Amino acid sequence: MRNAGSGNSSFFIPHSKVGAATFAAVPCLVAAVRKIALTVIRPATLADIPVIQRLAEAAWWPTYRDIISAEQIQYMLELMYSARAIEAQMVVQGHKFLLARHGGRYAGFAAYGLRDARSSVFRLHKLYVRPDCQGAGLGHKLIRAVENDARRAGARRVELNVNRANPALNFYTRHGYRVQQTVDIPLGPFWLNDYVMGHEL
Ligand SMILES: CC(C)(COP(=O)(O)OP(=O)(O)OC[C@H]1O[C@@H](n2cnc3c(N)ncnc32)[C@H](O)[C@@H]1OP(=O)(O)O)[C@@H](O)C(=O)NCCC(=O)NCCS
Repeated sequence: MRNAGSGNSSFFIPHSKVGAATFAAVPCLVAAVRKIALTVIRPATLADIPVIQRLAEAAWWPTYRDIISAEQIQYMLELMYSARAIEAQMVVQGHKFLLARHGGRYAGFAAYGLRDARSSVFRLHKLYVRPDCQGAGLGHKLIRAVENDARRAGARRVELNVNRANPALNFYTRHGYRVQQTVDIPLGPFWLNDYVMGHEL
């Protein structure tokens, strides 16, 4: 069993400092104008890795702290969001990343790619919107951008995994995704208790 808290955490701003130093001190925009603020979605490059890391830190803790343990959150952030891990996802595994800017600030990202070389199925690996920007339509724009790109690449279907206790599964349901399978996946000393959801394009 691995020690969930071990590993190099130097890639990440400590959670306690993220809000003060990076995001929370400046709300995305007041609620009344959030929906009309300009949103720009663009592909991310290796140079954007620090931005993706900060967005993941900001979104993961509030999303998962009542669902999985702090040790598991830290473990998964280090596993999936170290600079080396993101670089491998982009360069080796061929994951495409999209970044959303909203009201002039980075607010969310998505990562996706072909499930495997021979399939016509895309997988949405990651979809995260900074908490203070949620509900402003960014998740909608990101998932539609992913689906449009998947369609252009000839995909017939998009699949994803979502924790069974994550309210985001309602967001996916509203976007046409349906539960295909219930899976419990071991990850180091932890478990992922997920639904696999899918949507025909
Ligand atoms: C899930 C998430 C990506 C949605 O992005 P968002 O920008 O907040 O969502 P949007 O503003 O685009 O919402 C689009 C629609 O989905 C609805 N919606 C959004 N989140 C919802 C939720 N949790 N439950 C039900 N409906 C939801 C909105 O009401 C909206 O509907 P409308 O167009 O009829 O008003 C975002 O809330 C998020 O990052 N959540 C935390 C991270 C997470 O769980 N990611 C998924 C990991 S698998």
